[in-house]
Amino acid sequence: MSVQQEIKRLTAPDIRARKGGDPIVMLTSYHAHTARLVDKYCDVILVGDSLGMVMHGLETTIPVTLDMMILQGHAVMRGSKQALVVVDMPFGSYEQSKEQAFASCARVLKETTCGAIKMEGGVRMAETIRFLAERGVPVMAHVGLTPQAINTLGSFKAQGRDEADWARIEDDAKAVAEAGAFSVVIEAVAEPLARKITAEIPIPTIGIGASPACDGQVLVLEDMLGLSTRVPKFVKRYGDLGPGIEAAIKGYAEEVRSRAFPGPEHVYGMKKKG
Ligand code: KIV
Repeated sequence: MSVQQEIKRLTAPDIRARKGGDPIVMLTSYHAHTARLVDKYCDVILVGDSLGMVMHGLETTIPVTLDMMILQGHAVMRGSKQALVVVDMPFGSYEQSKEQAFASCARVLKETTCGAIKMEGGVRMAETIRFLAERGVPVMAHVGLTPQAINTLGSFKAQGRDEADWARIEDDAKAVAEAGAFSVVIEAVAEPLARKITAEIPIPTIGIGASPACDGQVLVLEDMLGLSTRVPKFVKRYGDLGPGIEAAIKGYAEEVRSRAFPGPEHVYGMKKKG
């Protein structure tokens, strides 16, 4: 008799419970095929709004819509089995009011069946995070460099390199933790500040260009695979897939042009009669 083992997906409370424990491994994915691979090794898959820049070639994440996030969130859920899937809330879908945020998050949770959402902002979003958490929406917060603020920041620059800015970023992290976020991404923040915040707040911190002391780390998959054209300075490359993919496409194009492909083993013959 074969016993079918049920694979249980990680949940937001499972990730919350990892504070100070085993490091949380998180990568982005936007498709079923990459989700299938990421799911084997990661605790959390982030369907980041970075998909606007990475997949769609946009200059910023500002034009990304809720429908785009839901479509890719659904694909990632289909491709994964064990990781917690977190879907990013895009600019304009949650900042106006707590009610707007709840309606947008409810759509994401219902239509993708993902386990949590992520939203940018610290002190200014704390009241909304509390409202959502009290109503069954697990929130991963995001402080430090918040790319959706690009039009007020002026550029994607590291935060907290000047000690005078530390209090503001610390207050952001404390506010989201106190409001009920189950974890917080700290992006492009000076290392000693990210380390200090990690020691100070009771929820897991997930660093990106922040500190090895964070409770977990996240990278954009295409950046670490060497597939992105523009990559932040802090990104470590774990692969260089661009040239390999280009070589395969070039080989295919050359064979098609020279009528060498498809060969007999790649076409169907006729069924034999009788
Ligand atoms: O959108 C994204 O991919 C992100 C990560 C960079 C944390 O927010």
